[in-house]
Amino acid sequence: MKRILVALSITGALLLGTSLYAFSEDGASLYKACQGCHGAQGERPAMGVSLPLKGQSAEDLTKKMHGYKDGTYGESKKAIMVNLLKRFSDEQIVMLADHIAKF
Ligand code: HEC
Repeated sequence: MKRILVALSITGALLLGTSLYAFSEDGASLYKACQGCHGAQGERPAMGVSLPLKGQSAEDLTKKMHGYKDGTYGESKKAIMVNLLKRFSDEQIVMLADHIAKF
């Protein structure tokens, strides 16, 4: 019996560790996927065409990112953003937008 309890608490600790790890994901860590094109502070026009992200509100950024995902926003190079944003959930998009709006 004791052994089962020990095993259960180890499993519990492992599960907790995993969820804390997932929880530690934040806008800054997600933004690492963006800085190559948009600049460390969102200051660069990506591939010479996008507006700089810096200075935009979290609300606008969220709208634009959702627009790429649902096909209602974008210019000539939008395919890049459409493909990239497929990997991000709505929650992650909000985290990204909040992070970028603070640059
Ligand atoms: C491979 C280069 C590349 C990467 C990486 C990239 N972007 Fe972009 N991004 C672009 C390009 C190019 C555009 C302009 C696309 C178009 O023609 O609409 C753009 C446009 C945008 C816009 C719209 C800007 C505006 O005001 O019109 C947002 C918001 C954006 N990107 C956010 C992100 C975020 C957040 C990430 C990281 C998850 C990211 N991008 C990663 C190249 C990139």
